[in-house]
Amino acid sequence: MKAIILYDTRSEGGSTDRFVDNLGKSLAETGAYVEKGKCKANADYSFILDFDVVIMGAPVYYLAVSSELIGALIQSNLKKYLKRKKVAVFVTCGSPEPMAYMLYLPQIKIHLLRNKILAERVFSPQDLSDDKAIDSYVDAIVETYNRTVSIRKSSVIWTEEALETISNIPSFLQEKFKRMAEEYAEETGQHQITSELLFTAKDEMGGT
Ligand SMILES: Cc1cc2nc3c(=O)[nH]c(=O)nc-3n(C[C@H](O)[C@H](O)[C@H](O)COP(=O)(O)O)c2cc1C
Repeated sequence: MKAIILYDTRSEGGSTDRFVDNLGKSLAETGAYVEKGKCKANADYSFILDFDVVIMGAPVYYLAVSSELIGALIQSNLKKYLKRKKVAVFVTCGSPEPMAYMLYLPQIKIHLLRNKILAERVFSPQDLSDDKAIDSYVDAIVETYNRTVSIRKSSVIWTEEALETISNIPSFLQEKFKRMAEEYAEETGQHQITSELLFTAKDEMGGT
């Protein structure tokens, strides 16, 4: 699994920065390839096409999830490239969990109505440095991801023609397009991948 953690914080080297490092380490220990990136509201997010899973979250300041993450979801091309991606979400905050699940997580999730959310979690200041809390979030992400991928792989059939089409594109792009086609077939309830579906998936999912 290739995962990227997209996050924001106003406190350089603060609790969220440290938490993201620990989250990345815990995820890497499961065998995943992990990168992290701090959100900017107007950045170009086309690079997320290279990842299987996008984990995103931020701290809450004055009742609002930190602004560069929400800004990126509203203003940039992040939402376009998130289309059909598997995501996980988190917030770091001081409020009690029920309030955070009700008030803060929806500020992110409202932008992810078409995404498969693998796991969502609220991290209190104590949880942020608690390995068990982090590992349990990582386990939830990895388990749901593996289940989704194995269901997808067992239910999709590739036609000879589609395999031929894939073999004609540069080898370093083949895996990316295969995954894109399988995800598109899964989302649209199709069990057979044809050349036509490959091209539609590429157009719909924004591949280069
Ligand atoms: C200025 C400020 C405002 C905050 N406002 C809230 C809030 O409205 N609700 C909440 O649950 N937590 C609030 N918190 C707690 C933070 O969300 C929490 O401590 C978080 O872990 C801080 O992350 P950071 O260290 O990366 O800045 C606030 C913290 C600060 C410093």
